[in-house]
Amino acid sequence: LCAFVAPAAAQSYPTRSIIMIVPFAAGGPTDVVARIVTAHMAQTLGQSIIIENVVGAGGTTATTRAARAANDGYTLITGHMGTHAASVPLYPKLVYHPEKDFEPVALLAGTPILILARKDFPPKDLKEFVAYVKANAEKVNAAHAGVGSVSHVSCELLHSILDIKPVGVPFNGTGPAMNALVAGQVDYMCDQIVNAVPQINAGTIKAYAIATAERNPSLPNVPTTAEAGLPAFQAQAWNAIFAPKGTSPAILASLNAAASKALDDGAVRKRLLDLGSVIPAPAERTPEALAALVKAEIAKWTPVLKPAT
Ligand code: MLT
Repeated sequence: LCAFVAPAAAQSYPTRSIIMIVPFAAGGPTDVVARIVTAHMAQTLGQSIIIENVVGAGGTTATTRAARAANDGYTLITGHMGTHAASVPLYPKLVYHPEKDFEPVALLAGTPILILARKDFPPKDLKEFVAYVKANAEKVNAAHAGVGSVSHVSCELLHSILDIKPVGVPFNGTGPAMNALVAGQVDYMCDQIVNAVPQINAGTIKAYAIATAERNPSLPNVPTTAEAGLPAFQAQAWNAIFAPKGTSPAILASLNAAASKALDDGAVRKRLLDLGSVIPAPAERTPEALAALVKAEIAKWTPVLKPAT
């Protein structure tokens, strides 16, 4: 007769719900991608994953909190190209470093950038947009999700190509920024596709171009920047899960497996693809591939972005 009973502590991770910090407001692209993928991960892991939207400072407030959280697998963050790459050159006093303070878990989605405008913004196409914002650079404004956010960094790149410095209007995420664009309160925005597809299809905003080499299947009528006359503007962001540094390899492995399983699920894939996301191939979903992406993205953005004042 075996009298051995496994102690509770030997139960495998996770034994309680997990907090997933989203560094922007609910309803924006980071939030939407995180909710789609974590809903499936929760089924795999057998515990709920609670989304906590922590806003401010272009996502760096939340990312600081995640870096300082216990490395026990119960607090994670869905970060992105801004929080885990562009923030490094933009915030010289950043208290976390994406590589030193986090364990990469898994890349969730690639998210092409679009140039969007309020429905009644005068330019009809990208050529007219370029001429219009150059001629009216002092009058027009660009919404974004705070310094260091993807929307901010993408439009900084656009503005440097056009050699203009329009006024930026910061929001706590491009979810609220999109509401302002739909309401006609701001002029234009460079946003991740996930946020834009439903609005473009509903005709509540206009899209001038997608900043990738190919058109996106979810928006077949939106031309690429190259087709529309601005080939220099190329931008695609990404969203990924990170854990605080020192999280155990076993926990990281189960989180990575759950994320990858979610990305193989038909319903998850359909939701992400319908929103225009690019689903990473299995080889791109490993922690090693994400570590390499973060390193490459920091190296790419550091010479491009000047510290914010
Ligand atoms: C960004 O601009 O970084 C994102 O769109 C923010 C968000 O997810 O709201």
